[in-house]
Amino acid sequence: MRTGFNELVAGVLRLLRQQAESRRISLSCGLGEELPPILVDPVELSQIIHNGVRNAFDACSECPQERRMVTATTRHIVGEGAEWGVSDTGSGIAPEVMDWLFAPFFSTKPEGLGMGLRLSRTIVEAYGGTSEACNNSDRIGASFRVILPILGESDENQALIPKYNAIGGDGSGLSEHRTA
Ligand SMILES: Nc1ncnc2c1ncn2[C@@H]1O[C@H](COP(=O)(O)OP(=O)(O)OP(=O)(O)O)[C@@H](O)[C@H]1O
Ligand SMILES: [Mg+2]
Repeated sequence: MRTGFNELVAGVLRLLRQQAESRRISLSCGLGEELPPILVDPVELSQIIHNGVRNAFDACSECPQERRMVTATTRHIVGEGAEWGVSDTGSGIAPEVMDWLFAPFFSTKPEGLGMGLRLSRTIVEAYGGTSEACNNSDRIGASFRVILPILGESDENQALIPKYNAIGGDGSGLSEHRTA
């Protein structure tokens, strides 16, 4: 399905706005213009955005109220793809955590399952895209971004057919992930 990237991002942010308000977080959004179409499952992309923004909220929760800011953006990076990113002014990513962010079932949160970033990466890579997380260069907070290929921009778009059978319907593959 062709996805209106900006519409989808705006829709997920609308759902999270109430939560941002109750956590006293300023949530803003900078949507790029004339984003070309991407091919991605909207539910999967929503999950990625939802997790990224929720992670940003969580990272801000220990910070002083006036510093709690989360910004979500989209843009077209010519020759690379369509980017969705979220940046926060939260705790940042501790050096010892950095290598484990995308590992399955890795979480520093009492109630965290630790699958949000792992699933995000699995989904994005199934569409031929990339994902990364890093601390912000001004040393306050962290950012997470994904880049998805633009429909028709390259032959690699053949990869847009999700190779989603890494985890079989019967649960095969899951145990490998658990012990990884
Ligand atoms: N914006 C961020 N700032 C600081 N640390 C982060 C940020 N985003 C993720 N992390 C760290 O990465 C870990 C893994 O994130 P991930 O989304 O995979 O799992 P989770 O949020 O803990 O649980 P869930 O499965 O419910 O998403 C988090 O527990 C947290 O330690
Ligand atoms: Mg998460």
